[in-house]
Amino acid sequence: MICLGIEGTAEKTGVGIVDSDGNILALAGKQLFPKIGGIHPREASEHHAKWIPKLIIEACTKANLELKDIDLVSFSKGPGLGPALRTVATASRTLALSLNKPIIGVNHCIAHVEIGKLDTGAIDPVSLYVSGGNSQIIAYEYGRYRIFGETLDIAIGNCLDQFGRETNLGHPGGPIVEELAKDGKYIDLPYSVKGMDLSFSGLLTASIREYQKNIAIEDICYSLQETAFSMLVEVTERALAHTKKDEVMLCGGVAANKRLREMLAIMAEEHYAEFHIPKMEYCGDNGAMIALLGILTYNIYGPDKLEDTNVIQRFR
Ligand code: KG4
Repeated sequence: MICLGIEGTAEKTGVGIVDSDGNILALAGKQLFPKIGGIHPREASEHHAKWIPKLIIEACTKANLELKDIDLVSFSKGPGLGPALRTVATASRTLALSLNKPIIGVNHCIAHVEIGKLDTGAIDPVSLYVSGGNSQIIAYEYGRYRIFGETLDIAIGNCLDQFGRETNLGHPGGPIVEELAKDGKYIDLPYSVKGMDLSFSGLLTASIREYQKNIAIEDICYSLQETAFSMLVEVTERALAHTKKDEVMLCGGVAANKRLREMLAIMAEEHYAEFHIPKMEYCGDNGAMIALLGILTYNIYGPDKLEDTNVIQRFR
């Protein structure tokens, strides 16, 4: 079976083609870079509307396939920005209907975990999925994926990006904060873990306040990273101890961060767990992960009914 997957929960449009043996046949994507501020949902949906048709052709060309060779259309059903999700769903329904092929909507976060497993060879990890829109600790237990902890407000990537914008460092803030943090020293910032959940909005506000007090930006960046990443590692560690698994996986765009990698690797080693990070092309949003999860889900549950392909902005 050959599945074409369409991703578009936020600002990245992705199309991927995967076969039922887990071969990634094509990956095509286009990222929207907002000129000012963060991502606007309407701009993201316009970006998807413009790029999905082009990327479908590009992916088929890369895979040396024709559209009629596609057996299944998969799309990211949520969580994500409403207008962006609806554009992707509409394009996917149109494609499936015009090809007379089955359609399936899948969970974006689980797709990150499944492509990570495929890429790294991890079998049953506790996954820390951290990106611009999501921060979740996910593991498979008792026959289904469960969220063991997550942010109660903004995602870690969003926290770093907002900090970058508010302090005129630029967008996206994550890589810039990482660079500046190398020369920083620790100052006290609020650490907010609530049970198994996390909160980054107070940390963001406090970091911006320190900037307004003219505290060295390097010190704020260092402390922001140390505090936020310690919170993420704490909850991942508790999920690992609870589930008694022996693998940890880091995925999502924030997985690019070397300090977060280092902190998680130390924690995993202390628990005698293997530590996995997928290649960056599979850490960020991409269409191949949607195609892969489409096939895996289809093999168990079959296709969706067309009338059940509504999107879910907050998908748990
Ligand atoms: O998964 P992703 O590509 O897409 C979205 O969720 O939108 O993640 C993008 C996020 C942004 O918030 C960006 O600042 C963050 O990943 N990021 C980083 C680094 N590189 C990208 N955060 C921390 N350190 C980095 N080196």
